[in-house]
Amino acid sequence: MSRPLSATEQVSTLRDQIRAHDHAYYVLDQPRISDAEYDHLFRQLQQLEAEHPDLVTPDSPTQRVGGAPLTQFPEVTHRVPMLSLANAFSENEVEGFDRRICELLGVDSVDYTAEPKLDGLAVSLSYEAGLLVQAATRGDGQSGEDVTSNVRTILSVPLRLNPAAPDLLQVRGEIVMPFAGFELLNQQQTAAGEKPFVNPRNAAAGSLRQLDPRVTATRPLAFLAYGIGDLSGALPETQFDLLQQLRLWGLPVSPLVARVTGIAACMDYYARLGQRRAGLPYAIDGVVYKVDRIAQQQKLGAVSRAPRWALAHKFPAEEAETVVNQIDVQVGRTGAVTPVARLRPVFVGGVTVTSATLHNQDEIRRKDLRVGDTVVVRRAGDVIPEVVRVVTARRPAEAVPFVMPENCPVCGAGLTQAEGEAVLRCPDGLACPAQLHRTLTHFASRKAMDIDGLGDKLIEQLVATGMVRTLADLYHLKPPQLASLDRMAEKSAENLFQALRASRQTTLPRFIFALGIRNVGEATALALARYFRTLDALMEADLDELERVADVGPVVAASLREFFQEPDNRRVIGELLAAGIRWPEMPVQPEEASPLAGKTIVLTGSFSLPRTELKARLQSAGARVSGSVSAQTDFLVVGEKPGSKLERAKTLDVVIVTEAQLVELIATPGGADQTSV
Ligand code: IVH
Repeated sequence: MSRPLSATEQVSTLRDQIRAHDHAYYVLDQPRISDAEYDHLFRQLQQLEAEHPDLVTPDSPTQRVGGAPLTQFPEVTHRVPMLSLANAFSENEVEGFDRRICELLGVDSVDYTAEPKLDGLAVSLSYEAGLLVQAATRGDGQSGEDVTSNVRTILSVPLRLNPAAPDLLQVRGEIVMPFAGFELLNQQQTAAGEKPFVNPRNAAAGSLRQLDPRVTATRPLAFLAYGIGDLSGALPETQFDLLQQLRLWGLPVSPLVARVTGIAACMDYYARLGQRRAGLPYAIDGVVYKVDRIAQQQKLGAVSRAPRWALAHKFPAEEAETVVNQIDVQVGRTGAVTPVARLRPVFVGGVTVTSATLHNQDEIRRKDLRVGDTVVVRRAGDVIPEVVRVVTARRPAEAVPFVMPENCPVCGAGLTQAEGEAVLRCPDGLACPAQLHRTLTHFASRKAMDIDGLGDKLIEQLVATGMVRTLADLYHLKPPQLASLDRMAEKSAENLFQALRASRQTTLPRFIFALGIRNVGEATALALARYFRTLDALMEADLDELERVADVGPVVAASLREFFQEPDNRRVIGELLAAGIRWPEMPVQPEEASPLAGKTIVLTGSFSLPRTELKARLQSAGARVSGSVSAQTDFLVVGEKPGSKLERAKTLDVVIVTEAQLVELIATPGGADQTSV
């Protein structure tokens, strides 16, 4: 009596099957079929949907990657603020936390949920009628960025929850990049001539902030839920039950969460998790204790931006012992010569460390570091690995003190040392292949001239063969020359040639940044271009004039002056312009034309104009729009139903204006300085 299933039924069955397998894999961590079987189901669904496009729905497992690339992320105001956590670094501090809680609640002992503190970035996922409708970053806790299209590509984020889930659910959790995926991504980055990410958290953040969701889709991200912002219906009685509930509704929760009673059990959990830390698939940087009973949490409330009922007990920065195999000296883009310890590879702080910066000769002397020494290296957060101390007891007899060379290890020029500076420099500029190499890498980089395909390996060859001796040489390379390089086929040579041609059309801020002037980063380059509007004006400016630019102090001004006075640099600039580099004229100087130039503005509440529109108008008037009120804020613009930013602005005496007043200000030249509200 069985009739063939209709396409609608087949699609629905396949989706249910795929969702059930996703749940088994990502939430329960118990895959029930092989990858090949899963792929087969997925392809069947894709094929059916291709034959019946009308059956495609946004929550179909095939529809994770979609939507056009954005130019910026829209802002999202969190209905319930995303709080942060108070930190503790010692047992004493944890005891103090527990004591305060017991006193405030008038009890002898409290139950806690102990959870790993995941080292990624916080997001808030909103589900309506079981469907994922929005994903936002934490931002300043009050408002963040709408990263829905990117979060949809993360396979452990369900697009649809189990039917038992409440109608409205705002889940809070962490997006992480597991170590395995992180290592692989960095290998790919290096192979493509891109800079590797320093740690999984940065990689996760960078991946989530891609404007094109197709890029995020290729990144190995995962999500783990640890709480809620809001939900319709009854709240479970405890944090632990809430987490179990989230899991039942289809959300992944760390399997390491536990309910513990009293402070001794907290410490025990901390010690046990600390031991397992290095073997976990993703980075954690501590334990979070949360008062388990929600009623008790509500009684305790929050102070400033953190709940009184939760505490992050951080792990100490990870340290490990290894051996210094060798000390190399590296020559940076600006000629700075730095000693670097080459280490026997050691896994610490979530990554394999093979070298550590030694800063300068004084530092090596102070630590009395020698080649062959056993050392303790530390890696904390984003910080470059460092040598903490030498284990002198294990020093081999033949270890000799290290002496910095007197000449550049690459070009042989005598090193110089400026007065009052610890660092030695190679004075040879672009005549030194090391500096030329680094200068070219910077020049070609994405935020500078953005020369697609000109990676590190190619630059190395261009420098070694002498095909490129100065920046402008890049623009005289012809396809046959490029094709003569290792690993370059005719087609890729042609592509690179075209990329070089295309890069000649640039912008003034990019060009200034690309020159690689010491102390001039992307933001300073932009400020300079806006202020001077032409390269000639910038090149001729004296120190006083340079210091008039916002963010330019005496050090930056001196770097600029020194750079533009150097005849070699002026020659290189002339050659680049002669090679066809050009840019559109800079718009009229906001500093004079716009009253809001250089002002820091914060918005609160809702406005008659869409927020993004208002923000764009303010930015084009030269203002900086910030998410949170601080002593640096010039104005708070208040719309309908303002949030807590208004109170904060009042306590900080920040000028408060309405939307109408703001529109008037944009229209009045010099108006902002006359305002007193
Ligand atoms: S709860 C109401 N639980 O830590 C408390 N946060 O330092 C809000 N984090 O922004 C956070 N693991 O990104 C909580 N198990 C966990 C966590 C966790 C990591 C992060 C989260 C938060 C930051 C605060």
